[in-house]
Amino acid sequence: FFPKEVEIIEVGPRDGLQNEPNPITTEQKKDLIDRLADSGFKRIETASFVHPKWVPQMADSEEIAAYCNQLGLTYIALTPNMKALERALAMDVPQIAVFIGASNEFNKRNVNRTTDESLKEAEILIREAKHEGKFIRGYISMAFKCPFQGYVSFEEVNHVCSRFVDLGVDEVDIGDTNGKADPKLVYERFARLTDLYPNQTFVAHFHDTYKMALANVIASMQAGITKFDSSAGGLGGCPYSPGSTGNISSEELIYMVEEMGCTTGINQPKLAEAGKYAKGLSSVKLKGEFI
Ligand code: HMG
Ligand code: MG
Repeated sequence: FFPKEVEIIEVGPRDGLQNEPNPITTEQKKDLIDRLADSGFKRIETASFVHPKWVPQMADSEEIAAYCNQLGLTYIALTPNMKALERALAMDVPQIAVFIGASNEFNKRNVNRTTDESLKEAEILIREAKHEGKFIRGYISMAFKCPFQGYVSFEEVNHVCSRFVDLGVDEVDIGDTNGKADPKLVYERFARLTDLYPNQTFVAHFHDTYKMALANVIASMQAGITKFDSSAGGLGGCPYSPGSTGNISSEELIYMVEEMGCTTGINQPKLAEAGKYAKGLSSVKLKGEFI
């Protein structure tokens, strides 16, 4: 089952920094993006057109998008609603990401909408983004367990997934937002999804709260997944998901798969430097439930 090649999408400049309480300057963010691009990442999630009052750290997303355009980088920006899409289109962002919680309670807290309300808006948003020729990532957040409702059922995940597939998103990204998934659940969930939607591209997005993220990567590979999000230095977290910690670390993920003979196209020494730089930006020192 082990793939010869995987795509690693770096989400540090967005997921890594969005939860950071200390202000990080736009120049520091650009510096991090430079280092990550130089490490070999072909796609980086760098911006988030959410409300600056909800996530102040992402308030400079227009400036960051302009910088990424200047670099000629393929980057992803979060667009939870039509206002966000308008902002992304104004900046000519190449790839957008819609995010919807499989858990209704989480979605209400994260974007002030029920899951079905978000799905309704996503329908218009995705049609418009497709019309504009954008690459579309559809995130399903809290796709395993949730800090508010506990276990999330497959049916809840599929409720969002089937809509994303019908709407023709380019990739469906399955998020373990609070890092509570375990390899057995991950394998079962991805196996069912890839079985139901054999032609759909899936991405796995793991957080590392319980240090299960590397094991979850292997479990999802066993179900055929070859695209993974990760964050340099293991930074990350969602401000509306209490108790969650960082994303899977890009350094750890890439070291593991490269050691097993799988190509990522990433220069590990350069990534190690980028990871150190990312950690230096963060004031959040405690990572993971068991550390
Ligand atoms: P709302 O308060 O419900 O917005 O927030 P509204 O539609 O009621 O509008 C209120 C005002 O906000 C209006 O302005 C709008 O124009 C304005 P007014 O008329 O009062 O002057 N507004 C906006 N302004 C700027 N940008 C916008 C925008 N939208 C409305 N996009 C909203 C709804 C979605 C904006 C808010 O809830 C929000 O920004 N939430 C962000 C939550 C977030 O960023 N969470 C973290 C990312 S998700 C995540 O981390 C999970 C992930 O990593 C995957 C995983 O781990 O599973 C992706
Ligand atoms: Mg995340």
